[in-house]
Amino acid sequence: MKESVKLIAGNWKMNGLGASLAEVETLAAALAADRPDCRVALCPPATLIERMARLAGAGIEIGGQDCRAETHGAFTGDVSAAMLRDAGATLVVLGHSERRQGHGETDGLVARKAEAARAAGLAPIVCVGETLEQREAGRAVEVVRSQIMGSLPLALADGDFAVAYEPVWAIGTGLTPTLIQIEEVHRAVRAAMIERLGLGIAATPILYGGSVKPDNAAEILAVAEVGGALVGGASLKAADFLGIIRAT
Ligand code: PGA
Repeated sequence: MKESVKLIAGNWKMNGLGASLAEVETLAAALAADRPDCRVALCPPATLIERMARLAGAGIEIGGQDCRAETHGAFTGDVSAAMLRDAGATLVVLGHSERRQGHGETDGLVARKAEAARAAGLAPIVCVGETLEQREAGRAVEVVRSQIMGSLPLALADGDFAVAYEPVWAIGTGLTPTLIQIEEVHRAVRAAMIERLGLGIAATPILYGGSVKPDNAAEILAVAEVGGALVGGASLKAADFLGIIRAT
């Protein structure tokens, strides 16, 4: 991922049944009629990837929300990177805080998953972000830097991935950091990425995520080093998601 245009990615989390694909039809039609000046992606639950990929056409990239680090085997309930690719995905969100916290995922595991994703031809979107307690203790930059160093495998040195900075306390809460705080962390993320992987990643996008809505998207997307957005709740409805896309 090295394009200079922004990437607006929707994370549907555990939301969406077949009937929800009507929103994707609406979105795809709107984007076909008035092509946006950005890349658009949707990451639905695994059950919808194949159907969504067929519906979405060329204007919307499709991603998974997680994958197993192993390629195959006796791992009941898990999905491999190659399975996501086979179903039509080209991206995969990895290390989201809901997986780090709810499933005990460590930086090391996220790095192994990212390596598996690259090997299967997927571009990972690797998530990092501090908790409220860590921010209040003045440790946001330090925490995020350490997550970057531990979660990005050297296999990403070609730059075909994205990082998403998602403060845990901003996800689904309606709270967002100030624009100055977003810029400070994004600059620190860029520095850590370069330290870890070299200058080949200088143009790899760093997305902001956490309560991005149509009414705050334009100011957030204008911050230095913000290369796009990872959007949860506001990506479920075509009208809201389009509002964010049109803010680029
Ligand atoms: P939100 O979620 O936009 O609903 O805050 C963001 C995310 O978890 O990726």
